[in-house]
Amino acid sequence: MLRITPAIRSFPDLHQSGIVRRRYPSSDINSEISSMSTLQWSDALVLGLPVMDETHQEFVVLLGTVEAAGDDTVLAAWHDLIAHTDDHFGREDQWMLATRFSSNNCHSSQHQAVLQVMREGQVRGQTGDLALLRQMARELGVWFAFHAQSMDAALALHLRQIGYDPVSGVVNMPEALPQGQIHGCGGAGCSEVDSAQHPGSAALAG
Ligand SMILES: [Fe+2]
Ligand SMILES: [Fe+2]
Repeated sequence: MLRITPAIRSFPDLHQSGIVRRRYPSSDINSEISSMSTLQWSDALVLGLPVMDETHQEFVVLLGTVEAAGDDTVLAAWHDLIAHTDDHFGREDQWMLATRFSSNNCHSSQHQAVLQVMREGQVRGQTGDLALLRQMARELGVWFAFHAQSMDAALALHLRQIGYDPVSGVVNMPEALPQGQIHGCGGAGCSEVDSAQHPGSAALAG
C-alpha cells in the first residue's frame, strides 16, 4: 500500500486564505455542485495558459461531482475523474518532456504518485469503502489548489517564457530554452515542492 504523509495538515492555510472556498465570479460551473465542493474555481487558480486553465476548471467540476454524488454514483464519478486526471497529467508531462524537462522531474513524479493513490482509492471504493473515497476527494481538492499554484504555475510560466504552443507543440522562442535538462519543477520553490505531500494519504493510512 502506498503511504504518503497527510496533505491536509500540511497545507492548513489554503482554507484560511480563501483560495479553496472563494468562488469564481463569472464561473459557469454548476452552482449546486460547486457549493458542496471542497475546491472552488477562483481567479487564484487561473494560470494564464488557456489550455491548462480549461483543463483545471474541468477538474474542479469533476471533483465537485464526486463530492456531490450519492453512494450509487460516486464510484462512477471517481472513475471519470481518474480518466480526466490521467489525460490532464499526461499532457502536462508531455509539455515538460518537449521543453527540456527530464523524464524523472519532480512535477511528473508527483503526478504519478497522485494517480496511483487515486487508483488505489478506486479499488478500495469497489470493495465498499466509500467513506475512504470521499475523504480522498476532500484531500485531493486541498492538494490540487497547492499543486496548481506551485508546480503548474511554474510550468505555465516556463511555457510562456519559451513561447510554447500547447496545441501545435511549437516552441516559438527556442533561444529561451534552458541549456541543460530541468530535473525539478522549474519553479523557485522546487525543493520545497519536491517534498510536497500527496492527497489520499490520510485516507489510505487509516
Ligand atoms: Fe495541472
Ligand atoms: Fe501538474
